Amino acid sequence: MALIELQEINKTFGTKDKKVNVLENLNFHVEEGEMVAITGKSGAGKTTLLNIIAAIDYPDSGKYLFDGEEVVIKNTAQGIKFRKDRIGLIVQHFALINDFKVYDNVELGLWETDIKGAKRKERVMEVLESLGIAELKDKYPNVLSGGEKQRVAIGRAIVNNHRLLLADEPTGSLDSDTEKGILEILKDLNRKGMTIVMVTHDADVANTCDRNVVLDKH
Ligand SMILES: Nc1ncnc2c1ncn2[C@@H]1O[C@H](COP(=O)(O)OP(=O)(O)OP(=O)(O)O)[C@@H](O)[C@H]1O
Ligand SMILES: [Mg+2]
Repeated sequence: MALIELQEINKTFGTKDKKVNVLENLNFHVEEGEMVAITGKSGAGKTTLLNIIAAIDYPDSGKYLFDGEEVVIKNTAQGIKFRKDRIGLIVQHFALINDFKVYDNVELGLWETDIKGAKRKERVMEVLESLGIAELKDKYPNVLSGGEKQRVAIGRAIVNNHRLLLADEPTGSLDSDTEKGILEILKDLNRKGMTIVMVTHDADVANTCDRNVVLDKH
């Protein structure tokens, strides 16, 4: 059974007189354990698609099934609840909190979960170590390099060990060595069982995935 199944999804933005059809009758599925790339021009709707999967945004029509169950989200609180134990998200351009240290940025990924106290600290440190950024734990994001920031964003997205990781351009604007390092981290998570959907502009990165889905309406 597919982990994600989107059927005939439509999504428009704008007012009644000035509508933009971003996703039109889109069918999309991801099997458990897959690593799928989404490519397509700027404005093609890649982030919109991830937002719908993450229940940050909602389709105008169509059906969304997660692990065989229909997802019907009516407000932000329901979206948070749905996401919390299922989906980790690496958003475009990192979105780290600059007033929070590296440790606290990663710990944010455990916000409102049942992982508390010593177990929480252990989990955050384990993730920081697996990403090779444990020694940066007391630094603030503004002193980090792009690759280091990206690893902090990955840490925040995987600390709760979700089944599904959505990554919006996780290797965007990195040099090729750093890009390879980040890709290797994601591949390793995938080998350990995490399903990954990754938006990328880079054909080489997309080619390393199990499948590449191109959004090309525009
Ligand atoms: N909240 C919104 N309100 C109005 N229009 C929006 C909104 N979000 C996205 N759009 C429009 O929808 C289209 C698709 O946007 P989206 O961010 O999904 O593109 P993208 O494929 O991720 O592009 P990029 O590669 O530049 O990140 C764009 O034309 C964008 O301007
Ligand atoms: Mg985008």
